[in-house]
Amino acid sequence: MSELTVDGARLRSALETLAQFGATPSGGVSRTSFSPADSAARAWVLDRCEAAGLRVRTDGIGNMFVTVPGALDDARPVWTGSHIDSVPDGGRFDGALGSMAALEVACRLAESNVALRRPVEAVIFADEEGCYHHLLGSTALVRSYSPDELAKLEGRDGDRLVDALQGLGWDLEAASATAVPAGSVHAFVELHIEQGAVLEASSVDIGVVTSIVGMGGGRLEFEGRADHAGTTPMNLRRDPLRAAGELLTRLPEVTASISPTAVATCGIIGVEPGAANVVPSLARLQLDYRDVRRDLIEALEDALFEAANEAADRHDLQVRFTRDSITNPAPMDQRLQDLIESAATAQGRSTLRMPSGAGHDSQNMSRLAPTGMIFIPSTGGRSHSPAEHSTWADIEAGANVLLQTVLSLATE
Ligand code: GLV
Ligand code: MN
Ligand code: MN
Repeated sequence: MSELTVDGARLRSALETLAQFGATPSGGVSRTSFSPADSAARAWVLDRCEAAGLRVRTDGIGNMFVTVPGALDDARPVWTGSHIDSVPDGGRFDGALGSMAALEVACRLAESNVALRRPVEAVIFADEEGCYHHLLGSTALVRSYSPDELAKLEGRDGDRLVDALQGLGWDLEAASATAVPAGSVHAFVELHIEQGAVLEASSVDIGVVTSIVGMGGGRLEFEGRADHAGTTPMNLRRDPLRAAGELLTRLPEVTASISPTAVATCGIIGVEPGAANVVPSLARLQLDYRDVRRDLIEALEDALFEAANEAADRHDLQVRFTRDSITNPAPMDQRLQDLIESAATAQGRSTLRMPSGAGHDSQNMSRLAPTGMIFIPSTGGRSHSPAEHSTWADIEAGANVLLQTVLSLATE
């Protein structure tokens, strides 16, 4: 096994520089996909790769690929990567770690004399955080979005994806021609922060991911009647926000009726017309729900809609549910789990096999290629918050496990 290691100082500097794009006063980042901060970060990645002599291409939906050639140029490449978009006021490491580590691996391989058999590509996936659709970029690699579907995708602020893409000067035809054939990638490996507290609590260095949770989502709209807030008696109102509130208080009961692992979240609420002295006419909830099996997610979706209908009936409302496509739960490849574990053990790191409750592009990639994920500890298990933190020592250790795993895949 080669002694090649990452340049820890260069990786740290890349993460610190990336954190400047969309930096928030709370110490986190707001770098939502296709925002000015995301575009500036993309331009910086491009410059950095070009300066290192690496070739970069971007597909129609915004996935970026940075190539290190192998001896057999037409051999199926090994991919590694993650995402640089963030949730609003998110942390500095979610996605950033796996993206900057993938670029560090690419730079290290390019500047070293190690003979690669297969090309290695560092991939930065577009809109992993699902401003427009969860795991947008990797979903587009599995199955291109049709022009109709693309035209319907709206962001958290109600803006249209197609307008965002056109605003960047991108070609919409290319945005719906992004799929890559299954089997055209040799293997995919993603390094990520754990985003939970399991590794820290058990004092383990490296998590070897066994499977990733499945995810659904959708927009639930309760429609009632706008009325005067002072003159309309409480029992004569058709107030959609009261029904929405009733549904939300029932989420623990509804999820528990499906399975002990089911979770459901409402992170966005909109009310129309939005005035303190008007009974709302419309309440809109953006839901996210997850479980370990697709049939459980489908059952959860139905149970949520049934509970919404019951709440709507109590208040004489209409209810509409626009469901997003479900991202399937995904097992990680057994051989890749073994490879990651041996790379970590050879470097003196302790390991733990564990499932992921967070969604990742790896779950889409597992439909295209054997896929594995490496976790490092998250301080206090905090994530999707500016409090997200991992130590520089753990970051370097995780990047070295990634480098060795990619190297063994690229030389086989
Ligand atoms: C990604 O961070 C997700 O789990 O939604
Ligand atoms: Mn992530
Ligand atoms: Mn995330």
